[in-house]
Amino acid sequence: MKTKLSVNINKVATIRNARGGNIPDIVQVAMDCEKFGAQGITVHPRPDERHIRYSDVYALRPLLTTEFNIEGNPTSRFMQLVLDVKPHQATLVPDAADTLTSDSGWDVVAHRDLLTDVIKALKQAGIRTSVFTGTDVRMIEAAAAIGTDRVELYTGPYARLFPIDREASVAPFVQAAEAAKAAGLDVNAGHDLNLTNLKFFIKSIPCVKEVSIGHALISDALYFGLQQTIRLYGEQIAAADSDTP
Ligand code: PXP
Repeated sequence: MKTKLSVNINKVATIRNARGGNIPDIVQVAMDCEKFGAQGITVHPRPDERHIRYSDVYALRPLLTTEFNIEGNPTSRFMQLVLDVKPHQATLVPDAADTLTSDSGWDVVAHRDLLTDVIKALKQAGIRTSVFTGTDVRMIEAAAAIGTDRVELYTGPYARLFPIDREASVAPFVQAAEAAKAAGLDVNAGHDLNLTNLKFFIKSIPCVKEVSIGHALISDALYFGLQQTIRLYGEQIAAADSDTP
């Protein structure tokens, strides 16, 4: 598969935290996701640690064998964690401390100085950087100008419009991915992707390097089990890849 599936395990931590204790065991789940075919693991520690805890991130690092992606707002605490743990990729997300979930990309122009410094520090540590953006081409070009390796396109708006008008839902993303490619950036995508909308997205934008998927995938696992669910997502990606010339 050209497009990698990175499983976001935050929701698993939410279930664990509901009871205290260590059920389900987040490290075991992450290793099982890898065994079942995930090509990466994503975590998104938030300042209140309401799902993934900072200690989980340290525990996961030595045991993961696929690509490790840590997402978050680059506060000094987050940066310390990422520079300690040295994942393969850090995805910078402008989420407010009390936000329910990430709901928009960066205004890269307004936060240019912060992002420039953060990207420089991460790249010096050998960590690939990805900046979470919407489809505004100006923001993507600004992200390229400050030296990021990738952008992650926020696919929430795609997922919302997809059931109503597929072509219209994906059109801005096709344009954004083309702008990213032209600016020398690789493209990731994530948020609200699921078994219904994933294949069409990748078929429309075959250059997507990685999708990170959490909420829908973990919810599907309630019905299909984790192994079968990861296989189903992998099949959607493979089908999109094989459909593209
Ligand atoms: N990408 C980013 C930057 C995110 O914040 C999240 C949610 O934590 C995801 C991808 C995954 O979104 P979802 O859980 O809807 O699949």
